[in-house]
Formats: sequence, C-alpha cells, structure tokens
Amino acid sequence: MNVEIHIANSNFIGYAQEICDLIYESAQARGGTGIAKRSAEYVAEKIEAGKAVIALDGDKLVGFSYIETFSHKRFVANSGGLVVHPDYRNQGGLAKRIKRKIFDLSRRLYPNAKIFSITTGLAVMKMNTELGFKPVTFSELTDDEEFWKGCQGCRNYDILQRNNYKMCLCTGLLYDSKTQPAVQASPPFAKKVVKPVIKRRKANKMFKKNETKSSFSIQRRPGHVVLCTMAH
Ligand SMILES: CC(C)(COP(=O)(O)OP(=O)(O)OC[C@H]1O[C@@H](n2cnc3c(N)ncnc32)[C@H](O)[C@@H]1OP(=O)(O)O)[C@@H](O)C(=O)NCCC(=O)NCCS
Repeated sequence: MNVEIHIANSNFIGYAQEICDLIYESAQARGGTGIAKRSAEYVAEKIEAGKAVIALDGDKLVGFSYIETFSHKRFVANSGGLVVHPDYRNQGGLAKRIKRKIFDLSRRLYPNAKIFSITTGLAVMKMNTELGFKPVTFSELTDDEEFWKGCQGCRNYDILQRNNYKMCLCTGLLYDSKTQPAVQASPPFAKKVVKPVIKRRKANKMFKKNETKSSFSIQRRPGHVVLCTMAH
C-alpha cells in the first residue's frame, strides 16, 4: 500500500462519480447520518477549483475530502465529505492524513475563516480535537441555510427542525484561528520522542528548616519527582 494524498485539480475530474458512489455507500452504511449527499457535478466543481484532496493508491481512489464555505466565506467546513475506502480504514491513520491536508488547505485558502464540523462520529471528534477544534453549541456555527440543508438527508433531521436548528444529536466542533494557536503538523507515522519530565520543587518557605510543628517530611528520589508525605 502506497497512498499519496493530492490537492485536487482538473486532472482528477475523472474520479468524481466514483467519489460520489463512495460517499453514498459510506452514508448508507452509517445508517444515513453524518454525510451530506452530493452530486457528481458538485464534486467535480470542488475538484476543478482545487478545493478538495484526493487519496490514491496508484490509480485506485481510497479517500476524499472537500472544502465548503458558508456565511460569505466566514465559515469553512470539510468533514461532511471525509471518506476513506472501506479496505483502507483502520490502517493507522489515512483519514488523519487526509484531514490534516484539507485542514491546511482550508487555512491557506481562507486564513480568516472559522473551520467547523458537526458530527456524531468518534473518529472525526478525535481528529478534529487533535487539530485544535473545540466543542461548541450550534449557536457558534454558521447560520447559513445552505449548510443546514445538508442535514436534510440525515435520519435525525426532524430532531434538528424540532429544536429550531439550535441542537441535534451531532456535536459542533470549531477551530477559530484567532483564538487558537496554529497546530503544527506531525509527520505521519513518525515516532514521538518523549523526554522524561523531571520536576524539581523549590524549597517551600512555609515550612522552615527548624520548624518544630511541621507535619511534612520531604523525600528526594534521585533525579525524580519530589514526594511530600504526611508524617503524623
Ligand atoms: C471515519 C473514517 C473517515 C475513518 O477513517 P480511518 O482511516 O479508519 O481513520 P484513522 O485510521 O485515520 O483514525 C483516526 C482516529 O479515529 C479513530 N477511529 C477511526 N475509525 C473509528 C471508528 N469507527 N470508531 C471510533 N474511532 C475511530 C482512530 O482510532 C483514530 O483515533 P486515534 O488518533 O485516537 O488513534 C472512515 O471510517 C470512513 O470513511 N467512514 C465513513 C464515512 C464517515 O463516517 N465520514 C465521517 C463523516 S462525519
């Protein structure tokens, strides 16, 4: 398996129908939640405009995601169409790589926009949290009707309507570049180097050396954390 993730351009238009089918089949398998239905024309437009990323193993389509803008480009969404081919799921991070690429692309194309998603899926919650998204109520998200129309195909749409588009079963997740620091990309599959944390406590002025009533003793373990224990 040698998967490459490309920023889409007109060379990839031929994949539009296959992408639609993959999105549709994945939505069906999820029981009709979380993925907005899109036409091949819509997907082709995103590819042509360079507002999508496409993962290929050789010539084989194995993943996709695209960018949508709402509220006059003040909000960007890109999780609704995040999809990985079933044979390539749970292989240690393909969706994560796609997500990172589409996130970086979104920030580059729309540096002042807030990036958001709504999801019931743990995978997207985990990936977005890692990128710096925070959970929010729907009041913090776009009020653009175009976005909420994407929920019409969801089997929970009646719940959203009943709650006047203010809450539903999805969790809202928001990345605001103005309040959140840029999250650095970590190289995929790189081993993390964890340095040992050695805490050294400064002398506590509250308990002087010769204080007779002190109920604490301080034990030092060479080069490691200081332990304080009660000594009654
Ligand atoms: C959701 C989906 C994109 C995940 O693809 P993937 O390549 O298997 O995901 P990754 O391997 O990159 O995993 C990313 C994280 O999500 C977790 N994860 C992946 N699939 C999961 C699942 N079904 N349930 C819970 N957690 C899951 C992984 O453990 C990983 O978490 P970690 O960082 O703590 O290890 C894929 O299953 C899919 O295409 N599903 C259908 C479409 C869909 O649901 N899209 C999301 C729309 S909201």
